Amino acid sequence: MEKAPIILAIDTTDVALAQSWIKATADYVSMIKLGLEFFTTCGVEGVKRIQENLDVDLFLDLKLHDIPNTVGKAARGASLLQPRFLTVHASGGRSMIEAAVTNAPEVAITAVTVLTSLTHTDLDRIGFTQSPLASAVRLALLAHEAGAQAIVCSPQETSEIRKAVGPDSIIITPGIRPLSYLGDDQKRTMTAREAIVAGANYVVIGRPITSEWANGLDAMKRAAGEIAEGLR
Ligand code: C5P
Repeated sequence: MEKAPIILAIDTTDVALAQSWIKATADYVSMIKLGLEFFTTCGVEGVKRIQENLDVDLFLDLKLHDIPNTVGKAARGASLLQPRFLTVHASGGRSMIEAAVTNAPEVAITAVTVLTSLTHTDLDRIGFTQSPLASAVRLALLAHEAGAQAIVCSPQETSEIRKAVGPDSIIITPGIRPLSYLGDDQKRTMTAREAIVAGANYVVIGRPITSEWANGLDAMKRAAGEIAEGLR
């Protein structure tokens, strides 16, 4: 069976639990994403344990954001884990993104534009004077010009970003929420299908699948299967 373009966000600090989530959803998930919650607790060794039996690619979501020299060296360190994608914040600027690209040439450096948890008001308070859409398009173009191969954005910004960066960039959208899912910290959301129709290559999905674990691994598998079915 062909897997869906779903990247499963493994947001836990428990390696064994992460392994059971990966196993339960393996029929439907194209890639798994390990992020800050996992990495700051389980570290490089935790990532290696996950990779032992992994037959899909790894998305390492470390959201690097620092001066170019530091990000370049951190990207090189992360590249030793051979992820397919590694994230940096596009707002770190052109030289910072270039440093990551240069130091980790075998990894697709992936630029996070505007976090999907931020509203227009939040951005205003940070000092971004443009709308989330205009800010995300501007950051995506900057990252594309700096050599980033992939862009992370809200599904709501995907079609405009696709027009700006062209067909070859990989667009990855978190902020995926089934219509039935009650509100949490994600704000600029859409369904998985809407995101793919808007031009995303992959959707990142965490809690709409992983929170079903409270009802058992079969429930989690069902949740992944339903979302995958909606993408056919
Ligand atoms: O549980 P949920 O579906 O909200 O998970 C989304 C995942 O995508 C989280 O791991 C989060 O860190 C990540 N992410 C995001 N927004 C971004 C970039 C990454 O939500 N702009």
